[in-house]
Amino acid sequence: MAHIVGGIATSHIPSIGNAIAKGLQADPYWRPFFDGFVGAQRWLTRVRPDVVVVIYNDHGLNFFLDKMPTFAVGAAAEYRHADEGWGLPVAHPFPGDARLSWHLIDSLVDDEFDITSCQEMLVDHAFTIPLSLLWPNSPHARPVKTIPIEINTVQHPLPSPARCFKLGQAIGRALESYDEDAKVLILGTGGLSHQLDGTRAGFINKPFDLMCLEKIVDDPQALTRYSVLDIVEQAGSQGVEILNWIAMRGALTGRVSRVHGNYHIPISNTATGLLVLENQPLLRLAV
Ligand code: DHB
Ligand code: FE
Repeated sequence: MAHIVGGIATSHIPSIGNAIAKGLQADPYWRPFFDGFVGAQRWLTRVRPDVVVVIYNDHGLNFFLDKMPTFAVGAAAEYRHADEGWGLPVAHPFPGDARLSWHLIDSLVDDEFDITSCQEMLVDHAFTIPLSLLWPNSPHARPVKTIPIEINTVQHPLPSPARCFKLGQAIGRALESYDEDAKVLILGTGGLSHQLDGTRAGFINKPFDLMCLEKIVDDPQALTRYSVLDIVEQAGSQGVEILNWIAMRGALTGRVSRVHGNYHIPISNTATGLLVLENQPLLRLAV
């Protein structure tokens, strides 16, 4: 049986990748952001996951506005990055786990989530940058297998927060019914509040972000009562990427405790957040 060791949520801004490429981690602008990751890296050294399920949104690299699945799951042996136009170095490929992917796909479809299965899938900065932040010392020999799960946060209509939470719960159930032993981390990327264009470009809502960082730990249902348009209003048109965090939280099926977190404003136009949640599976009585 797969064991869900916990969940991490983090922002995924492309300029972070450029800062990594230029070695700017100790620069005064970047330091409060990168220092936040030390606690997450230490926790990962302790729990040592085998597989990371990365819940993120594609920004036009693999899917474009002409074909935009609401939910898509990767089922490839390997996932490649490519030039997205942000000036980022192209990341080394990420190993997949096709057997676990197909188990997830079977289980999600059984559970009435009509997802798109992708035997080829390019992964963008929303996938590559969080992994670089969490495992900064292994850009080539990746220490974990990966499974990308895409949520449409780009082209309306978007799935509701409640639906994304239920998707996460279905992911959690699927992992718990896997017949192989594996320690699995759930990673949700994006957010926090930000809007990249329009008259509200640069919009950040710190009180809303802090409320989300608190509620997602012990009362995630509170976030599922918002509509997508409520979140756009409160957190900006790209702040709706918190849907990926909500799905991550839904997948933590046990007793959840906060291990580490950070909040820093701004990087680029974005309020950045990091949260590390440990998951203790609930004891099941033998029957
Ligand atoms: C920025 C933030 C994002 O979430 C993204 O996908 C691209 C750019 C930014 O703040 O620059
Ligand atoms: Fe984004």
